[in-house]
Amino acid sequence: MIEIYPRILSEEVPMFVVTGANSNTGRAVAMSLLERGAPVRVIGRSTERLRPFADRGAEAIVAEPFDRIALEKAFAGAKAVYAMLQPGVIPESDDFSAYQREVIEAIASALVKARTSHVVALSGWGANYDKVGVPLEGLAILENRLESIGTLNTLALRPGWFMENATALIHEIAASGSASGQLRGDLALPMIATADIGAVAADALITADFRGFSARELEGPEPLSLTEAARLAGEIAGKPDSVYRQISPEDALARLLSSGFSTTMADAIVRMTDDVNAGRIRMMQPREARIITTTRFQSFASAVLNTERTEENHGR
Ligand SMILES: NC(=O)c1ccc[n+]([C@@H]2O[C@H](COP(=O)([O-])OP(=O)(O)OC[C@H]3O[C@@H](n4cnc5c(N)ncnc54)[C@H](OP(=O)(O)O)[C@@H]3O)[C@@H](O)[C@H]2O)c1
Repeated sequence: MIEIYPRILSEEVPMFVVTGANSNTGRAVAMSLLERGAPVRVIGRSTERLRPFADRGAEAIVAEPFDRIALEKAFAGAKAVYAMLQPGVIPESDDFSAYQREVIEAIASALVKARTSHVVALSGWGANYDKVGVPLEGLAILENRLESIGTLNTLALRPGWFMENATALIHEIAASGSASGQLRGDLALPMIATADIGAVAADALITADFRGFSARELEGPEPLSLTEAARLAGEIAGKPDSVYRQISPEDALARLLSSGFSTTMADAIVRMTDDVNAGRIRMMQPREARIITTTRFQSFASAVLNTERTEENHGR
């Protein structure tokens, strides 16, 4: 952990800017910075949803992710910026690629105009596959765009599979002892908790010791399959015989369409999942070159189920 107070008090106060502050990762970055006493400016789309940060002393800026003027103002004077493509998916979108390109251009233009020197960008393991489609193609486009800015120092973080993706699975296991999805049950996924991504990003923002462009893969302490994840979640939930079942791409598509996804977005998610199942999307850097974080799936699943129980006790 980095000690920051002495530097803040002795030098000009550095400001750290966090885009997507209400996303899983953005929230984790902002909270991690605030816990270390760093001055933080958070950007999100609603004052109400930014209140938890403002209550802890952050400056809150309400802006759409594609609003380049608002971003430029928000980035002004920043020591370093956390930049991300928010959200991961817009279910009803018919042209998510166009949306992501607009957000990327807004971020890039604002970084240039605000003369930002350091950016920690959220990319992902999807950027490892050069033929990746929507929604992950935006990650490589973001990386390339940031790399093209000569004056900018960029650290692109390429985390693997977010444990948060398993939240629904954990709830299903707790409720019924079974869960299903299109991902193969036997595939070891490079799982990582977004809280850990937040801590790594906060460290990098504060030290800002990277030069030029670099990309680092991030993953948790051990890869885990969904069959194993279901078993572990079942043990925690008191359903030790819990199982995960893989469903066909056709059934996955039907599920997505019936839950409100547009045809193009549902098709894209099914293709992306096929890419993961076939190993086309995978971690590429040698494990010793990756940043390995500490949260295990068991702790993550326990926290998900404890939060649910607490909310039930409070009459959610
Ligand atoms: N899931 C994975 O396994 C994985 C792995 C590697 C990389 N990634 C990358 O991680 C990024 C997603 O990160 P994340 O999970 O932290 O984000 P996220 O949780 O998907 O972001 C959700 C936030 O986006 C905002 N939002 C919701 N709908 C929106 C809309 N229609 N337009 C604009 N903003 C909207 C909301 O915040 P407001 O309050 O501001 O509205 C919401 O809280 C993606 O770029 C993804 O490719 C994901």
